[in-house]
Amino acid sequence: MTVTIVGSQLGDEGKGGIVDVYGDAADVVVRYQGGDNAGHTVVHDGHEYKLSLVPSGAVRGKVGVLGNGCVVNPATLFEELDALRERSLDPDVRVAERAHVILPYHRTLDGLEEDVKSDEDLAAGTTGRGIGPTYEDKAGRRGVRVGDLLDPETLRARLEYAVPRKRALVEDVYDLDVGDDVDADAFDVEAIYERYREFGRRLADEGMTVDCGRFLAERREAGDRIMFEGAQGTAIDIDHGIYPYVTSSNPTAGAAAVGSGLGPTVVGDGEVVGIVKAYLSRVGTGPLPTELGSVDGQTPPDGGRPGESDLAEFIREEGGEYGTVTGRPRRVGWLDVPMLRHAARVNGFTGLAVNHLDVLAGLDEVQVGHSYTLDGEELLTMPTTTEKWADCEANFRRFEGWPDVEWSTVAEDGYDAIPENGRAYLEYVAEEVGAPIYAVGVGPGREETVVVETPF
Ligand code: IMP
Repeated sequence: MTVTIVGSQLGDEGKGGIVDVYGDAADVVVRYQGGDNAGHTVVHDGHEYKLSLVPSGAVRGKVGVLGNGCVVNPATLFEELDALRERSLDPDVRVAERAHVILPYHRTLDGLEEDVKSDEDLAAGTTGRGIGPTYEDKAGRRGVRVGDLLDPETLRARLEYAVPRKRALVEDVYDLDVGDDVDADAFDVEAIYERYREFGRRLADEGMTVDCGRFLAERREAGDRIMFEGAQGTAIDIDHGIYPYVTSSNPTAGAAAVGSGLGPTVVGDGEVVGIVKAYLSRVGTGPLPTELGSVDGQTPPDGGRPGESDLAEFIREEGGEYGTVTGRPRRVGWLDVPMLRHAARVNGFTGLAVNHLDVLAGLDEVQVGHSYTLDGEELLTMPTTTEKWADCEANFRRFEGWPDVEWSTVAEDGYDAIPENGRAYLEYVAEEVGAPIYAVGVGPGREETVVVETPF
């Protein structure tokens, strides 16, 4: 059977921790989209590991797979693997030969486009990892795939087609000089070829590349349990998220099939667990109707609630709301329930894991955005355009706060040990979203999780 873990908000819901807890019973952990934009922190045996590409299950001795729906930066991949090996781990990571490769020019172009867009307040606030430009090339049929790194002739042919076009973009569209304004090696066929051929050799030497769908089908037939680890979140899905402030892939559960090569019936036959953070956080620009306080350069001029800056600061500090990849302070807000109802429908959640309940502990009162008002009407789910979302006013519901308690004891004692008001909050969320609570995160470590249901 399979279990798919999906972020139900804007990314950073703490998926890594839940993958870690449930992943114990899995044999294979598969990422099906995204690339090294996905910062996740895994705490294992008291050590903290910060990863952006390697599936978090690989830290715990599972086979980690980067599926065909991923975009892979081999430099990041080997850096992370080497760092884990230096810390005496022996990660087993496989990479789909159909996955696309992030090349140096993708990163450069990501930065150039964001710069131009920021002049017009259109920047998505990307992680700068070249994700968007790589998916553009995939859809434009001019990408380089992992399998091409193993085949010198094809690699050269692909680069000879793509690189001059990228160079022309820099020179003719951005009006910049390759060499003076941007790194010449990032736009040089020979330099890229040599470096990426070497990555190809290493991938082959270490036996890391696979036909992902076939590999996973064989593992399933052999009785292995497969976990799909979604990166980012539903509200930044390119189809179902707050376009254009989205990532360029589909974090939603349907992509677990497309991005791995196993069919939708396989994914749908398993469980789909939505990860919810007990409040909202976001890196990047764009609207956020339940935002508290504001973050310079990210909150739109008329957004946020400046009067609630102290509350925002409290949540940011307690929750460590700073980007794993970029270190940027994250914007924070109350839970946005219309966003969760939308996520539950898109993904077909069979259960929920609510994280960071402990972060809100000690507040007198906790609020949620229960619905929106748009043009005089009440909305229970997200509107289709981000412009309309920006016009939505959140209707808040108030909950009595819960005390700060010894959360590790709560995790040991189980669900009923969660303070009553905290349970009332969780039960409201489950009821509104229409999926039962499977787990509650009450601290950063995997042992600080109250496990109600084990999906495998
Ligand atoms: P990109 O994925 O780097 O292209 O960034 C596009 C948008 O997705 C930006 O708003 C990023 O902040 C956001 N984003 C990408 N990856 C993550 C993540 O892992 N967590 C939260 N936000 C993310």
